[in-house]
Amino acid sequence: MMLRLILAMNMTELTGAVSGPSTDVAAAVDNVTLFLHIVSGLMLALVTGLMLYFVVRYHRSRHPKAVEVKSNVWLEVTWTVIPTILVMAMFWYGYEGFRMLRDVPDDAMTVKVTARMWNWTFEYENGKSTQELYVPVDKPVKLLMRSVDVIHSFYVPAFRLKEDVVPGSESMAWFKANSVGQTDIFCAEYCGEAHAYMLSRVVVLDSDEFDQWMESELPTPDPEAAAALAIMDAHDCTGCHSLSGSHNPDAPSLKGIFRRETLVERDGKEVKFLADEEYLIRSIRDPGAELVKGYAPTMDAPEDMSDEDLGVVIEYLKRVE
Ligand code: CUA
Repeated sequence: MMLRLILAMNMTELTGAVSGPSTDVAAAVDNVTLFLHIVSGLMLALVTGLMLYFVVRYHRSRHPKAVEVKSNVWLEVTWTVIPTILVMAMFWYGYEGFRMLRDVPDDAMTVKVTARMWNWTFEYENGKSTQELYVPVDKPVKLLMRSVDVIHSFYVPAFRLKEDVVPGSESMAWFKANSVGQTDIFCAEYCGEAHAYMLSRVVVLDSDEFDQWMESELPTPDPEAAAALAIMDAHDCTGCHSLSGSHNPDAPSLKGIFRRETLVERDGKEVKFLADEEYLIRSIRDPGAELVKGYAPTMDAPEDMSDEDLGVVIEYLKRVE
C-alpha cells in the first residue's frame, strides 16, 4: 500500500507545484531524489531498529558478561558489499541525471541570457530581445548565461533547473519543455535588495505560434533608444529603476513615467501632479528634492551627465510605455 502510494506520487505533487510545462529531465531528477530518500529512509529504519533491538536484547541484566567476538567474515562481507552496491547505485543514478543536464542535444536553439540587478534579459538567434523567455514546445533550448554585475542564479523550479550566473564567466543550461504553458523563473542567489523581485516567466508556445512570434515585432533599429539606454547604463540608472514596469522597492519603474500621476512630498506637504518634462529633469538633477511617496532618498544625482545626455534620456523616458 505504502509502496503503491510512493510510486503513484511524483515530486510535482509532493512539492505542491501547480500543473504547467515540465521536462523529462525534471522527471529524472525527481526519480533520483525519490530513490535517495527511499534508500536513506530504509537505512535509517534498519540502523535505528537494530540499535534499539540490541539495546534490549543485550542489556547488562540479560548478559552480565560480555562475550569477546574476534571476527565474522560473512558479516563483514555483507556489511561491506551491500552498502557498496547501494552507494554505487546512488552514484550511477545521479551521474546519469548529471549527464542529462550537461549533454545538450545538437538541434538545440540558443538563447543568450543576461542577468543584472534585478532582471533577466533573453536574446534570441535573430536578435530579438525580451524580458520573459519564449520557447517552442518539444524543442531543446540551450541557455548561455552571463551576469553584468554580481552572482545570480537562474532557477526554474518546474524544470528542476538551477544554474549560477557568475560575472566574468559564461554558464550553460538547457531544457526541453514538454507542454504548452507558463512557469516561473526565479533568481536563487541573494543578489541585493530587490533579489526577491528578480522574477520572470518561461512562456512555452506551440511551434507554429513560436515561429510567428519570432517573426513578429522584430526589433526595429532605434538609435535614439539605444543611445539613451547606453547613457542610463553608464550612470547605473537601470540598476535600480526598471524599464519593464517590474516592482522594485528601491526606485519607481521608468515604464510609463511621463505623464504618470505622481505623488511627491514638497515642503512637507503631499502634492499630486502628472510627471512632466520639468519634473523629470528636476528628479535627475536633484533626486532628493521631491521624492515620490514611499521611496527613500537613496539616489545620488548622476555625476557629469551633460545637458545633452540628459536631453537624450528625457526624450527616451517620454516614450517608454
Ligand atoms: Cu539576482 Cu538574486
